[in-house]
Amino acid sequence: MINMAENLDEIAEQYKVVVRDLMKVYKRGQKEVIALRGVDFEVREGEFLSIVGPSGSGKSTLLKMLGALDKPTAGMILFDGHSVSILDDRRSMLYRRQKVGFIWQIGNLVPGLTAFKNVTLPMKLAGAPTKLANERAEMLLDIMGLSPRAHHKPNQMSGGENQRCAICVALANKPELLLGDEITGELDTETTDMVMEALKKTNEEFGTTVINVTHNPRVAEYADRVLRIRDGLIEGQKHTLYGDITEIDAKGRMVIPETIRRLAGIKKRVVLKATSEGLLISPLSTGEENNNNQPIQ
Ligand SMILES: Nc1ncnc2c1ncn2[C@@H]1O[C@H](COP(=O)(O)OP(=O)(O)O)[C@@H](O)[C@H]1O
Ligand SMILES: [Mg+2]
Repeated sequence: MINMAENLDEIAEQYKVVVRDLMKVYKRGQKEVIALRGVDFEVREGEFLSIVGPSGSGKSTLLKMLGALDKPTAGMILFDGHSVSILDDRRSMLYRRQKVGFIWQIGNLVPGLTAFKNVTLPMKLAGAPTKLANERAEMLLDIMGLSPRAHHKPNQMSGGENQRCAICVALANKPELLLGDEITGELDTETTDMVMEALKKTNEEFGTTVINVTHNPRVAEYADRVLRIRDGLIEGQKHTLYGDITEIDAKGRMVIPETIRRLAGIKKRVVLKATSEGLLISPLSTGEENNNNQPIQ
């Protein structure tokens, strides 16, 4: 919930990432799917945060917003105090390229390239000199225990090796924020542990802020802090939404669903009041409503 009394500038100074009242509605024809219903949280610089929740709870949606791969319907994400959600296409691309590293579920390496070339590729695309790119790739592969596999292609490496290589790729351009989506989703328990240890090492050695989403509570435990998401909301978070999102048209008209009108006792007229919490819409008391309906004498 956006609390107008809270000093966002002050909060943004203390945290790497601040998420406020984040909502995402997908439209499928006439049907709306509310994937995020007003998510609030903060992440400290250098923190390793897990977000755990069942399938369909909104984890991937949240991660896409954090990585500026998609835009929220409402709410905001501040990165170093700057809004990510309002970036234009070019700035979104720069943010993704310079600030963020992504690790997805298996399969995000280029199949035809060796581990080494997969890691140097993003650096080359960003214009890094070959020598520097090669040195950094060697260093990253070494840290991930992949030096002996440097000249193997993805299909010549195990699932765990692929994911550790994917971590190197994500780290190539020295991101400040590492985003992981079910990165161990297709691995067995033992390999999962190795990959999660590798991710933890990244966080500790480079001080990279990590946000990792998973449905697996055991995987979530590798983090400094765990948030639980369910039905598009962080568990335990105070929220005041009824779960409905409504649009305001160009003339300022808004549709308030009938159930909410009934719940709130709203009839034909309402009183609008700006409060420190937002806009308060309250029913006009019956007496007033009657008065206002009378013709002016
Ligand atoms: N592109 C999309 N179009 C329509 N609905 C979507 C889309 N992406 C996700 N959803 C819906 O949003 C909800 C959250 O999905 P998602 O963020 O993928 O959850 P999770 O990653 O936790 O499994 C689900 O109900 C899903 O069906
Ligand atoms: Mg997902």
